[in-house]
Amino acid sequence: MAGEVLRVQGGTPLVGELTVRGAKNLVPKAMVAALLGTTPSRLRNIPDIADVGIVSELVELHGVRVTPGDEPGELVLDPSAVEDADVVAVAAHAGSSRIPVLLCGPLLHRTGRAFIPDLGGCRIGDRPIDFHLDALRAFGAVVDKRPDGLYLKAPERLRGTLLTLPYPSVGATEQVLLTAVLADGVTELRNAAVEPEIVDLIAVLQKMGANISLHTDRTIRVVGVDELRGATHRSMPDRLEVASWACTALATQGDVFVRGARQVDMMTFLNVFRAVGGEIDITDDGIRFWHPGGPLTPLHLETDVHPGFMTDWQQPLVVALTQASGVSIVHETVFEGRLGYTDALVQMGATIQLFRECLGGQPCRYGQRNYAHSAVIAGPSKLYGADLEIPDLRGGFSYVIAALAAQGHSTLRNVGIIKRGYEDFLGKLAGLGADVEWVPAS
Ligand code: UD1
Repeated sequence: MAGEVLRVQGGTPLVGELTVRGAKNLVPKAMVAALLGTTPSRLRNIPDIADVGIVSELVELHGVRVTPGDEPGELVLDPSAVEDADVVAVAAHAGSSRIPVLLCGPLLHRTGRAFIPDLGGCRIGDRPIDFHLDALRAFGAVVDKRPDGLYLKAPERLRGTLLTLPYPSVGATEQVLLTAVLADGVTELRNAAVEPEIVDLIAVLQKMGANISLHTDRTIRVVGVDELRGATHRSMPDRLEVASWACTALATQGDVFVRGARQVDMMTFLNVFRAVGGEIDITDDGIRFWHPGGPLTPLHLETDVHPGFMTDWQQPLVVALTQASGVSIVHETVFEGRLGYTDALVQMGATIQLFRECLGGQPCRYGQRNYAHSAVIAGPSKLYGADLEIPDLRGGFSYVIAALAAQGHSTLRNVGIIKRGYEDFLGKLAGLGADVEWVPAS
């Protein structure tokens, strides 16, 4: 797929229904959690996305048996024979995903050591792992950073500790959870991230026998246990994918029912969608999103950690905001480099200007530094088809939305990256009436 080019003929409102499955930001982590058990875990609602394939291969290299379950989208992970993996085989996964770093705690508990290849993930800023490594060291791990990756050892059983995150990082919170559950004694994590995917991971770990409590002040307390068993768990739906399709409906003046979408995970998004002028109908089976006709309303928005407006919702929404009548301001406060994709929207006819200042809201960590992290979007703009190279997962999907909303045709290269997080996205687009086709790369 990566070598092919997607040709998108824009201008057709997308109408119809699609189904979202388990969350990309939960499922790979629940798969890593399975390593902590002594018996098999059964995970349900697993999407067919590249990140799941990568994590399957990685845990298999460490002796976990991964097999399909009884129902579609079910995976069984048997960790009874976890062992050291061949470093060269693990290193072959360098740069493919950021999930491997979460294997540290579980591997240290199971085998006393871990090798983590150089990390990948989307190019949306520096994405350091200093919080992860500081936490692992506080648990008693010895971390040796080498050019090919991280070599970790646990000279003795890891012990619970008191930690405060400098920022409520999702990954670092998960790192602490996956390490603290089998550590000796109590771990208290302050300033933790509390995203719904983290709460779902806590649910998985509790099913396995862990003792974790989540307090209202972003403190997580874990009482370590000696052993965990396997769990059966159905993943929460992918609220990032839901928002992407919602914004596609809005930007193309369409009407899309997203089966499987769950209101409680995305109340902040739903409020914003309505504020822009989109309509929603929430049912037990999913959520219908549509453009009711007439002009859309501009707004000021700031991305934030949960329960704020999620940074991964920002890119698809900005495409819809290019169609709002007036000036919108978007202040990205979670990642410093997550507005670069707007260059392509400007190339397509949008009026978007980036600023280094914190516009419109509270000053954030990036305010006095050299990061263009605020965007001013003036609309409505007519978008025109363009030839684009997809930069990262969420930015990439926003190019697809823009191409669908534009007049004329666009060609999109490097589309394979979207497969990392969107299951059967081409089939879903076709099901909504989008005019898309593969063309050979020239
Ligand atoms: C996860 C999500 C991603 C989402 C992000 C924020 C997955 C697979 N990815 O990414 O979709 O956009 O949460 O909701 O779940 N930071 C540090 N040092 C660290 C760790 C993080 O400085 O050791 C900083 C990051 O650079 C960033 C901020 O903390 O500025 C938030 O990052 P984090 O929440 O850790 O994001 P991820 O877990 O990588």
